[in-house]
Amino acid sequence: MNTKYWSADEALADLNEAAAALAAGGIVAFPTETVYGLGGDAGNTEAVRRIFAAKGRPSDNPLIVHVEDASAALRLAKQVSDVERRLMETFWPGPLTLVLPVREGAVSPLVTAGLDTVAVRVPAHETARRLIAASGRPIAAPSANRSGRPSPTLAAHVREDLDGRIDGLLDGGPTGVGLESTVVQAAGDRIHILRPGGVTREMLQQAVGERVSVFGSDSGTGEAAAPQEHAPRSPGVKYAHYAPKGELLLVAGNPAAMIAAVQAQVTEAKARGLRVGVLASSEHAPRYEADAVLDCGSRSEPELAAQSLYALLRECDDRGLDFIVAEGYEERGIGAALMNRLRKAAGGRVLHV
Ligand code: TXA
Ligand code: MG
Repeated sequence: MNTKYWSADEALADLNEAAAALAAGGIVAFPTETVYGLGGDAGNTEAVRRIFAAKGRPSDNPLIVHVEDASAALRLAKQVSDVERRLMETFWPGPLTLVLPVREGAVSPLVTAGLDTVAVRVPAHETARRLIAASGRPIAAPSANRSGRPSPTLAAHVREDLDGRIDGLLDGGPTGVGLESTVVQAAGDRIHILRPGGVTREMLQQAVGERVSVFGSDSGTGEAAAPQEHAPRSPGVKYAHYAPKGELLLVAGNPAAMIAAVQAQVTEAKARGLRVGVLASSEHAPRYEADAVLDCGSRSEPELAAQSLYALLRECDDRGLDFIVAEGYEERGIGAALMNRLRKAAGGRVLHV
């Protein structure tokens, strides 16, 4: 298949062509404020099947449906609680995905992987919103990467992974947040974070007030976790994710103790003949000696590390690194989502200092 390339800053004609392709059952990648998504008509089972095939995604991992506004979301849900309404009003458009009871027949059963819930969000990216509006349909869109690869934050990443496998790519430049949306599910007076992201736990708690408890997704990280038997899980969490080809070790804890610990790991791996890289904060980067030191921005601005993480993980592969040591960040604000993705990239290899 020939993939068509469109630019989001060019004439409206490009956007309209991309929207027409979606309406006709095509699958098209587009920018959002988090990462690029691979979209298809959520009501068209054949389009949705092609999304799974292009990504190599397991069919039991459901997709997020992207809509223009909250009223379009209400049409997909069987019912919506006051807490859920409050979240929509506060965070949409924006990087928050709500898992809602699905209205029968609202989307293809492939989208929900047969669950009785549907994940919905209203993206804040102007191009995404215009594209969805012009297509006139709810758009199912997972991140536009091959399964197991880091999510794409540039059109070039999508091209790398999916060229020739999709109908088109709408290039809107770099995405904003750099990590995927926060996925939450409300149950009575509880909100469960199924996947941390751009909307932080602190922001959620503030929006709903004290009568509702917000539970984090990662246990053993200092976040309050819900009792296991009550905690809903996202089907996606069981899959390995974001792994670079080389082995990644996450060094977490006290920043002052970090430099010595990271360098010791680098030196030891180099002695084993490995090609070694470091993902470092700007403050620490000049202190390391390794084959590659990739700067994640200042430690005081974890937003920068979030924005660049996926591009840097791809760069680790491009540079042929066998072993990567990554500095950890404080688990606060966007730091919680950042550490969640770093732990996944590390496949559980975490050194606490
Ligand atoms: O920022 C984002 O969310 C991006 C952009 C493109 O919007 N999309 C994205 O989609 O990250 P994807 O497919 O890579 O991740 C969707 C996550 C998966 O972990 C999936 O298991 C979960 O959402 N999910 C989808 N539907 C669900 C449902 N009904 N119940 C629980 N989890 C669900
Ligand atoms: Mg994904």
